[in-house]
Amino acid sequence: TTPRTEADELGDPLGAAQLAPPGAVTVVVPTFNESESVGELLHRLTESVPSRLSCEVVFVDDSTDGTPEAIRNAAQDCPFPVTVLHRETPVGGLGGAVVEGLRRAGSDWIVVMDADLQHPPDLVPELVAAGERSNADLVVASRYIRGGSRQGLAGGYRIAVSRTATWLTKALFPRGLSGISDPMSGFFAIRRSAVTTMVTAGALKPLGYKILLELAVRCRPRPVAEVPFVFQERYAGESKSTAREGLRFLKHLAGLRTSSPLARMVAFGVIGLTGFLPNLLALHAFTTAGMHYLPAEVVANQFGVLWNFLLIEMLLFRDRRGHRRWADRLGRFALLANADLVLRIPLIALLVGWLGMAVLPATGLALLLTFLLRFAATETLVYLP
Ligand code: GDD
Ligand code: MN
Repeated sequence: TTPRTEADELGDPLGAAQLAPPGAVTVVVPTFNESESVGELLHRLTESVPSRLSCEVVFVDDSTDGTPEAIRNAAQDCPFPVTVLHRETPVGGLGGAVVEGLRRAGSDWIVVMDADLQHPPDLVPELVAAGERSNADLVVASRYIRGGSRQGLAGGYRIAVSRTATWLTKALFPRGLSGISDPMSGFFAIRRSAVTTMVTAGALKPLGYKILLELAVRCRPRPVAEVPFVFQERYAGESKSTAREGLRFLKHLAGLRTSSPLARMVAFGVIGLTGFLPNLLALHAFTTAGMHYLPAEVVANQFGVLWNFLLIEMLLFRDRRGHRRWADRLGRFALLANADLVLRIPLIALLVGWLGMAVLPATGLALLLTFLLRFAATETLVYLP
């Protein structure tokens, strides 16, 4: 489903997409309440982009303030076509806005940048030139190579968070992010040809801020080049990033990491293992309270099941929850998880009694079989594809 948008072409009645000549650049700028910055941004872009590089600017706006009007005013003194795409129903936050911009971009090169001038506009031609020079599909403006820095990233706390997030992300996607020192950067140039297939297939599922990560992992643009840049102070207003954005980022990471069936199965298993903890804690609590251990086992198991259900809902099948009501999903999930227990005992008895296996390998095999069965059943019976 594409979000409802209200397109507003300025000085370009035919739409920039049809007019942009090859080699040109579309600058995509996501905006959320940036009325004080957009004028200065257009002004600096005008100064920075040489006239031989034809340029259009597409703002994708989710603002609740007068940002669209501010853009319209500033666009009157701007030599290149400026489009404001105001989203009535913002989907996917910053990343969703950028994907909307990619869909509308008409040039061979697309540069994505912030509106608050933390990304220096005079680097736009350099990013495109670097891409042409090295025949790259993606050019990342990086804070982490020689000549770059994150001067404008205020506070030791934000720097520590940023460093940890970068490290974790690179560890999770060693191949997709190879050659990219700054996967968290929101400033980059990408060839339109590298993203069109994914964009038209609706295969991009950005969630929040890390759109470069999404594009690098799902579109695999190659080769990759990097250009250093100094992350500037914010020009006006304040950052729109919140603690909620951090949670969104973790969900985004989980979604990206579990997009293949094998990865999903591994994640399912790891989540299952973490379920032992609430299970054992509950068992301990009930038995110390004087409950007989057998009924306590059964009740405690439900704590593990609930824990697993919550994690799986939030991290693994986030995109596939829509098909059934949550109570229905929980019911089916719990049924499968408990059936797993009931099934395992006769299965072990079968392996030992009929096939003459030793108890330990029989138990191992039974665990594996019921795990595979439960994964397959959860995928198909709880979360339809
Ligand atoms: N359309 C839209 N919708 N735009 C948004 C939204 C949204 O929900 N949220 C933020 N933006 C816009 C802002 O208006 C701004 O132009 C840009 O996205 C970046 O938002 P900031 O709030 O200024 O982000 P930041 O400075 O904290 O983070 C920047 O630097 C990080 C690196 O430290 C971004 O570039 C991040 O992507 C980057 O990781
Ligand atoms: Mn910013």
